[in-house]
Amino acid sequence: MDDVTQFTPNLARYEALMEVVRNRLTSRAFRPDIPVPREHIEMVMEAARHAPSGANAQPWHYIVVTDPAVKQQIADYFVAEASKRAKLKMKFPTPNYRGLATAPGFVVVAADFRFVRAFPVLLDGSDLDKQYQANAERILLQSVAASTMSAHLAAAALGYQVWWVTAIGQEEAQKSLRPLLGVPEELAIIDIMLFGVAAKPPYKRWKKTLPQIVSWDKFDMKNYMTLDEIDEWVRETRPKVMYRDEAKVD
Ligand SMILES: Cc1cc2nc3c(=O)[nH]c(=O)nc-3n(C[C@H](O)[C@H](O)[C@H](O)COP(=O)(O)O)c2cc1C
Repeated sequence: MDDVTQFTPNLARYEALMEVVRNRLTSRAFRPDIPVPREHIEMVMEAARHAPSGANAQPWHYIVVTDPAVKQQIADYFVAEASKRAKLKMKFPTPNYRGLATAPGFVVVAADFRFVRAFPVLLDGSDLDKQYQANAERILLQSVAASTMSAHLAAAALGYQVWWVTAIGQEEAQKSLRPLLGVPEELAIIDIMLFGVAAKPPYKRWKKTLPQIVSWDKFDMKNYMTLDEIDEWVRETRPKVMYRDEAKVD
């Protein structure tokens, strides 16, 4: 008789998934001469559709941009925003956003924050409600990220490289970009997902080790960082880990 307590993990399937997970590498410029066919874009979006979400609300919408003029306008916006940030002395090592204009796979991610009401909230404007609303926004953002990540992995599984761009959160950016894409003002544009064949060979960036990110039973204080240590990380380590092969991070 079969032992019903026996579970056989599917290691081959895990390895196939991990091959995709490990080799999803950010690229910020794509070959404009190798298009991504509509069929592949639909395959990528199909992965987004199956993502989990709080209350199964699925508060996301994806706008696939195919018009080169619109891609160019969005790229121009990013380039201008990057130079504005440089003038504000934000000291953030900003990448070159010109690659947006010719990205073959170009998907704008919109979130419908009105769906916070699908999560535990009071909707009475009280202070307690504000706390629940803040939590509901976190639930909503995580939901959209879960769906977006599924799409990124699907694109990586097809062999494309991906670029996750968020640098447009502020209201002014929303006002400029919504009309280009016909996005109703109740929805927020939160990300852009770009993918295609990388223009330059992609490289693996530094990742923390497993013991650095996992504790068993109790938070391991070995991995706790003070605010000063975080500030030092931002100053010293961040520039090395953002744009460098992990093999070249000392
Ligand atoms: C939530 C999120 C926001 C990001 N925003 C940007 C962005 O605005 N611009 C950009 O060039 N890269 C952005 N990235 C890409 C990260 O810089 C990149 O994932 C990170 O450096 C690690 O590299 P890897 O993706 O190759 O592992 C973002 C990634 C995530 C997950």
